[in-house]
Amino acid sequence: MSVRRNLLRLHAALVLGALVGVLAGCEGEHPQSTFRPVTEYGVILDRLFDHTVWWTMPVLALVWIVLLYVVFRYRERPDAATPRQIHGNAKLEVAWTIGPAIIVAAIAVPTIRTIFAVQPKPPADALKVEVIGHQWWWEFRYPDFGGITTANELRIPTGRTIDLVMRSADVIHSFWIPRIGGKRDVNPLPAQPGHPEHGATTAHPNHIIFRTDSVGVFYGQCAEYCGDSHAVMRVRAVVSTPEDFDRWVQAMNVAPAPAPGSLEAQGKQIFETHACVACHTVNGTNARGVLGPNLTNVGQRLYIGDQDRLKTTPENLARWITNPQEFKPGAKMPGTKQSGGGLPPTGLTDEQVRAVAAYLYSLGRTTPAAPAPTTTTDTTSTSGMK
Ligand code: CUA
Repeated sequence: MSVRRNLLRLHAALVLGALVGVLAGCEGEHPQSTFRPVTEYGVILDRLFDHTVWWTMPVLALVWIVLLYVVFRYRERPDAATPRQIHGNAKLEVAWTIGPAIIVAAIAVPTIRTIFAVQPKPPADALKVEVIGHQWWWEFRYPDFGGITTANELRIPTGRTIDLVMRSADVIHSFWIPRIGGKRDVNPLPAQPGHPEHGATTAHPNHIIFRTDSVGVFYGQCAEYCGDSHAVMRVRAVVSTPEDFDRWVQAMNVAPAPAPGSLEAQGKQIFETHACVACHTVNGTNARGVLGPNLTNVGQRLYIGDQDRLKTTPENLARWITNPQEFKPGAKMPGTKQSGGGLPPTGLTDEQVRAVAAYLYSLGRTTPAAPAPTTTTDTTSTSGMK
């Protein structure tokens, strides 16, 4: 008897615990919620989700009511007679065959319609962005703007259809920014000769096509297990007004020119004479490596290397350069004392790291403004990053 009572207590505790867990889910900001979509794509998916949930609710209710009724009504009692035994019931069997079939159809039809609705042909004036998944970062190329390239931070304007053309440089990844839509697999595809920038492969790259009118930063992450640092393969979309977006595009083509003798100038010199340039590009300099993220205007990005822990500051840039493995286990970038990606440690001293960090931090922050509809000399324009 006391065993049974303990079991009951255990059950009650579990139910209570689950309830607290469920309710706790209602708290907080949820930057990666699918329930607050900012695109038509996201709205369509959210609607389908709601539709499906509502069809399953009566099933849930029916099953629980019948289950609880049977459990209590026919529970074992010392004086109870054996209930009447039933074998087969044609009406009931027909009902529980037709009922679920109707429900499946009610869910399947909108699902299939949604699948087609979210895979339209992009309009001719869509802004094409090539998305390339790498272990463990995202590359974004803009063939419409001379192939300017950035990493981890997808920059897009409001009010224009965006066509993400996606492939992977290594294993399968999955691109997912919940408030925008998706997710969708990012598969290894060969770049086509002559059109490496355009994703014009015959092998059908996956697309995500959407449009948003919401200025803001929307967070996401890789949604397909892809190795050691899959869990920190994050991504964010920075959506700004078309004017701010144009300003960003222009700034991406301005060569950095740190003041002679400054810490930044020292950093530039160290950056360009050490292993950094083997993997990284900074537009307008002799850094032309393509194995790692393109660092043009990296100082403008909200985060560096680790979207959760490293806001872009000189200190955090230095931490990342010193030991990337601390933030992304298995990162293919060596630290000052640790090897990485088959490359030996860079051997940079703390002083050198500080200079390089200052240089990188200045990129996009101190460059004089390109001709732009603005009087400020700072091209970093924080609009769109609020
Ligand atoms: Cu890339 Cu998981």
